[in-house]
Amino acid sequence: MADAVKDGSANGHFELYLRLQSGMEKCMRTLLVTGAAGQIGSELTTALAHRFPAASILATDIRHPPEFPENVIFEHLDVRDADRMSLLVDAYGISTVYHMAALLSAVAEQLPEKAWDLNVNSLLNVLNLSKSGRVTQVFWPSSIAVFGPHTPRLKTPQHGVADPTTVYGISKWAGERWCAYYFNRFHVDVRSLRYPGIISWKTAPGGGTTDYAVEIFHQALENKRYDCFVDADVTLPMLYMPDAIAATLALMEVPSQAITVRSSYNLGGVSCSPSQIAAEIKKHLPGFALHCKPDFRDTIARSWPDSIDDAAARTDWGWKHRYGLSDITADMLEHLS
Ligand code: SER
Repeated sequence: MADAVKDGSANGHFELYLRLQSGMEKCMRTLLVTGAAGQIGSELTTALAHRFPAASILATDIRHPPEFPENVIFEHLDVRDADRMSLLVDAYGISTVYHMAALLSAVAEQLPEKAWDLNVNSLLNVLNLSKSGRVTQVFWPSSIAVFGPHTPRLKTPQHGVADPTTVYGISKWAGERWCAYYFNRFHVDVRSLRYPGIISWKTAPGGGTTDYAVEIFHQALENKRYDCFVDADVTLPMLYMPDAIAATLALMEVPSQAITVRSSYNLGGVSCSPSQIAAEIKKHLPGFALHCKPDFRDTIARSWPDSIDDAAARTDWGWKHRYGLSDITADMLEHLS
C-alpha cells in the first residue's frame, strides 16, 4: 500500500481502502473512472457498477459526485496530478481506467492552455500508468471535434483529413495520435471512440458546443421556447446516452485482436439540426418555438461533420445505434417532465 495513503496525506480514506481491499478478494477487478461527475462519466460509472456487480468502481472528479450504486467509491482527483493518480491506482489496485475528464469545446476556447494541459497531459498520465504495466486497459473519449472545415462533411470517413479549428479538437486529435503511438510502441491496450454530441437527461452537460441539443428539451418544457446559440439549419451527429454507454461497454469487452483502429473509432447515430429537433418536440408540445441567436459556438458547430461513417466500428465490434430522433425526443420529454 502506498505510504501516502496509509498516513492519510492523499485524502486518506483509509477505512474505505480497507473495505475495498477485503472486497477485492471476492471481486475480479477494480475500475477507475475520471470525470465521474460529468455528463457521460456519471452515467458510465453507474453502468459499470451494474455491469460488474462484483467489481469495485473508483469514481474520481474535482466536483461533488452524484449518488452512485454501493460498489462505487469516490475520491477527489485532479487528473493533471500524476502523483496522486498513480497513488490511487496503486492503493486501489486499478486494472482499467475510463479517462473521461476533459474541458469541452466551448469552455476550452476561453481557456486554451488549460484545455491543452488538462486534455492532453492527463491522458499521458494515464497512458504512462498503462505503459508501466500497472493498468492493463484504458478507455479514452475522442470527439467529432477532431474534424474540421476541410473534412468531408457528409458520412465523414474514419481515416481522412482532420484539421480541427478548436483547441478542444486539437487536443483530441493529439490525444488520438498519442493513443495509437502508445499502442504501437508500448502495446498499451487503449481504446477510444469519437463521440458525437451526446443527448441525455440525467446529468447536464457543461461547456460543450452540442449542449444546445440537451438545453432545448429543458427549455421546451419550462418556457415553451428556446433561444439556440447555433443556427436552425446546422446539422451535427448526435447520440442518445444509452447508445453512447452501450458503445463504450462493447468496445471495452471486445477481444483486443478485433480492434483495427487504435486512434479512435468514428461513432455515428442520429444526424439532426436544431430545427429538426424542434419539429420533433412540437409533436409533443405544439406551442414550442425555436429562436436562434448564433454565437461563437455556431462557428464551431459549422466546422464539424453533418454525419459520420462508422463502418469500422460496425464491422470490428458490431456497433449499431438503437435510438432515432423521435425515440430520443419522446424519452427526453418523458423523463424531464
Ligand atoms: N460534445 C462535445 C462538445 O460540444 C463534442 O465532442 O464540446
